[in-house]
Amino acid sequence: MENLISLVNRLQRACTALGDHGEESSLPTLWDALPTIAVVGGQSSGKSSVLESVVGKDFLPRGSGIVTRRPLVLQLHRIDEGREYAEFGHLPRKRFTDFAGVRKEISDETDRETGRSKQISSVPIYLSIFSPNVVNLTLIDLPGLTKVAVEGQPDSIVQDIENMVRSYIEKPNCIILAISPANQDLATSDAIKISREVDPKGERTFGVLTKIDLMDKGTNAVDMLEGKSYKLQFPWIGVVNRSQADINKNVDMIAARRREREYFSSTPEYRHLAHRMGSEHLGKVLSKHLESVIKSRIPGLQSLINKTIIELETELSRLGKPIATDAGGKLYMIMEICRSFDGNFKEHLDGVRPGGDKI
Ligand code: GDP
Ligand code: NA
Ligand code: MG
Repeated sequence: MENLISLVNRLQRACTALGDHGEESSLPTLWDALPTIAVVGGQSSGKSSVLESVVGKDFLPRGSGIVTRRPLVLQLHRIDEGREYAEFGHLPRKRFTDFAGVRKEISDETDRETGRSKQISSVPIYLSIFSPNVVNLTLIDLPGLTKVAVEGQPDSIVQDIENMVRSYIEKPNCIILAISPANQDLATSDAIKISREVDPKGERTFGVLTKIDLMDKGTNAVDMLEGKSYKLQFPWIGVVNRSQADINKNVDMIAARRREREYFSSTPEYRHLAHRMGSEHLGKVLSKHLESVIKSRIPGLQSLINKTIIELETELSRLGKPIATDAGGKLYMIMEICRSFDGNFKEHLDGVRPGGDKI
């Protein structure tokens, strides 16, 4: 059933490819209706590290201070075989096979929009990764919540970041990945504070506890991981990401994941929880959840897609020769994708695997 998520991935990419023209149709509504997963938390809580572990690749700018200054919409596409590569929405014809190049392009593209200052921008960067080693997922990395502006930043930045984060996670279709460091009191967690605001019952929030390895001696995260400190509908997941020292020593992702597994299975306090801990487990849980959410939304999505098709048809006939203009060409492409969806959704509803859903 992996095709459901890749179908939605394609629709999301199509919506965003339309850019400014989106205002003319119900596409923005369609985009909002598609389920996504947003990663939220305080600065340096480990958000980018968690994303990298889920992807199994080093590709994000990381470090202390405010590194993530624009939303990054990251679409993971599982391919059967072949070499992994990445593509940016703003560079549609360029394939990156070197992930250090991906990291550099994210920084450069951030600077292009914000200047080299420490300003933030709510204009997202779109990145797709095609790999045999990923699960199909769409994840959004957001700037970290912070309590004080640093030099060069306007005082409004604290509130600006919070508003930007809220604008993503308040949508009922947003699944929240709330990142809290285990070496700080959960009561002070920025992730919990903001997710509780928009999802008070914890029905669409996944709690992730990072930095378990950095807790004070004699303390442990068992109460937090068992949901006794803060209850969510879904079980908490603990992870051990690479420390800054590991990153400086170039400890690779495979070694880091193995060490993470060993950490949970060999620490007496966590052994009973080991089967539901770690980044690999997190990736699988999210993918499975996303798929079930999409499945439950098919009827609603279908009628929205049909509405979009009708609107696009009207818009195209108004434009006259559609393919001649850039906007018309894109509208046409989206309409075709929407049409292919309609058929694919029907097959999914019938429990039949779609055949050639490639475009
Ligand atoms: P972000 O600002 O929330 O995106 O956080 P980063 O992923 O950039 O991580 C901030 C710092 O914390 C980096 O130096 C990471 O190496 C470190 N870090 C993140 N998670 C862990 C963890 O689970 N254990 C340890 N020891 N360090 C971590
Ligand atoms: Na950071
Ligand atoms: Mg970050």
